[in-house]
Amino acid sequence: LMIAPRALNPHALGPLPGPLTYLPETDSTNTQARLGALAGAPWGSVWVAEAQTAGRGRDGRQWQTFPYDSLAFSILLPALPPTLPLVASLSVVRAVKAVTGRGLQIKWPNDLRRQGLKVGGILTEGFRQPQPGLVVGIGLNINPPATTPEGLEFHYTTLGTGLPQPLPREEVLAAIINQLWADSQVLVQQGFGAFYDDYVAACDSLGQTVTWRTATHQVSGLAAGLDASGALSLRQPDGTVVLCRAGDIIQPGPDGEGAPR
Ligand code: BTN
Repeated sequence: LMIAPRALNPHALGPLPGPLTYLPETDSTNTQARLGALAGAPWGSVWVAEAQTAGRGRDGRQWQTFPYDSLAFSILLPALPPTLPLVASLSVVRAVKAVTGRGLQIKWPNDLRRQGLKVGGILTEGFRQPQPGLVVGIGLNINPPATTPEGLEFHYTTLGTGLPQPLPREEVLAAIINQLWADSQVLVQQGFGAFYDDYVAACDSLGQTVTWRTATHQVSGLAAGLDASGALSLRQPDGTVVLCRAGDIIQPGPDGEGAPR
């Protein structure tokens, strides 16, 4: 059996909350996790892919992974409070800090950034059958790819950019899975309040002038605070406060422009 030398080693992950399926290539790990749920896979099951042919981002966007240099995986969780996506981004920040010592920032609600550039994202999809649950799909750029993939229409960075050695993807993956599993249980028992301070500390949207976009309208204002439900409050120049409960915001990047995504 030929195994690509840089392929992820699924046997080097240590203990995990559920079974892990490693796929050299698949359509989307979120799709595979959904099919797994229909086939009776237990909560905590994980699907990880080296390459995705139909990787999905939020709001119908496409998601591109760098084979051998990024992580693309999905975990099956039982139904959880609507703040789970925010908590999941904090789980990634915590796990990455523990393994690599490197800090990440969260762009509300759950984009992962480093030095103002996107380094990862989370796509959470709920389902009702055969029992209510969630697929939490996480994409994270780990090491800089040797060549920049074509067709990327936004600026990105990787977790390991500037380091002399590649980061161990297996350790990062295992740490994120276990952190998210533990955090999801704390969320059930204690609610979002248990994460509020750490989330606010990691969120670099607060204090910035951002633009909130929904399908129907667009509002700009100062991201003034986060409420107990995870909604972002935008203070407009006339003093009006708008609560953003869903959707995406655009906030300035390092070049002062509104960095896309
Ligand atoms: C975003 O920022 O728009 C969310 C990106 C989520 C990408 C991950 S990669 C693993 C999983 N499978 C998918 O098709 N999407 C998620």
